[in-house]
Amino acid sequence: MSTKTNTENNVAHEYPYNGSSTQVEVKIKLTADKIEKIDAICRSFGNDPGELINVLHETQSEFGYLPAEVQDVIAQNLRIPVAQVYGVVSFYSFFTMTPKGEHPISICLGTACYVRGSEKILEEFKKELNIEVGETTPDGKFSINCLRCVGACGLAPVVMVGERVFGRVSPESVKQIIGEYKD
Ligand code: FES
Repeated sequence: MSTKTNTENNVAHEYPYNGSSTQVEVKIKLTADKIEKIDAICRSFGNDPGELINVLHETQSEFGYLPAEVQDVIAQNLRIPVAQVYGVVSFYSFFTMTPKGEHPISICLGTACYVRGSEKILEEFKKELNIEVGETTPDGKFSINCLRCVGACGLAPVVMVGERVFGRVSPESVKQIIGEYKD
């Protein structure tokens, strides 16, 4: 039987891996309960490689993002190459490998918002925070993400910060919105 070794918090954790007959020790910086949680998600989909997207969805909603270590555990459980998992994660924009910021900023690029200039607003957020879409500021406070119509077209252009909706946003108001979330 091969083992996974957990090294986070200096805790050595031997974990039985049932996915391969090859004797491989994989070092994963995940706590034992996180690994068990991922295993449970994979099991709930029958460890079926055809359920990869559903497994990834469920795992991301549990962890918030899909770092390499998590992808590794999924690949082992589904008995597929890590490259295949990575390929799917990087192909679909709704999967992310970086944790969201404390205040995730989502700019709507749906038609109504787009025609009212949401692209300029996006550019302004990128400039102000000095990050790209899908990235998080080094202090972990903000991340930028784009959305399709959020159902508030009457307020276009729309920006969400967490669950809060900002309507009729202008590039000039971007600084003010960010300012509301700074200490
Ligand atoms: S297009 Fe942005 S809320 Fe509908």
